[in-house]
Amino acid sequence: MKYIIGNWKMNGSKTELDDMIATLADTKTQNRVVLCVPFTMLGTGGANVSIGAQDVSAHDHGAFTGEVSASMIAATGAKYVIVGHSERRAYHNETNDIVRAKAQMALDNGLCPIICVGETMDEKRAGKTFDVIQSAVRESVPADVQDDIIIAYEPRWAIGAGITPTRQEISDAHRVIAETLAYMGLDGTPILYGASVKANNVADIVSIDNVDGVLVGGASLKPQDFLPIIENAK
Ligand code: 13P
Repeated sequence: MKYIIGNWKMNGSKTELDDMIATLADTKTQNRVVLCVPFTMLGTGGANVSIGAQDVSAHDHGAFTGEVSASMIAATGAKYVIVGHSERRAYHNETNDIVRAKAQMALDNGLCPIICVGETMDEKRAGKTFDVIQSAVRESVPADVQDDIIIAYEPRWAIGAGITPTRQEISDAHRVIAETLAYMGLDGTPILYGASVKANNVADIVSIDNVDGVLVGGASLKPQDFLPIIENAK
């Protein structure tokens, strides 16, 4: 079983989501499929697919105009929430401390946080990849985790770029994350790869050690792109 998680970002419509859910209901797979959709599309679901959000407030409730709390997300029936996606880190200045607070809120409300980590091209060029992802895991994962969490390794320079790291680079990054999680007493935590995953590279990517699935952006939007990813990931 592999996790195949789609991140629709700020794309799609309710009609397209209904269409995707209907298509997935007819798809036989051993994989666990999740669609993380905009807040306005939460509140749906279907056979073979769970629904998630793409962000959550670090606060429980109160005067935080525009924010959506973990309990509100959970009340829609969603089971997952992405936290610390690189676009949140880049455009909304989210630090590891903020990401950890959001992940804690998710856990407190029965949601599984999908915690994203990954290096920029500048950090990669400076040889800081392992330092960045190691400290991101250590600082973004809440203390004393008792329930399911997922880590997603998304090299920021490869997101939406149509390029992927080499097998060796993915393998090395996932090994560092697995070792960091083991040190924190969290061995067995699923580690997903994300960035430019397509139907033609997913089988190769999920065959790499410590890769438990994929987080898919652009190629999760249309059934004709997403279904072959689900089918090819074995
Ligand atoms: P792409 O698959 O479009 O590169 O996006 C990856 C991503 O950011 C998923 O969260």
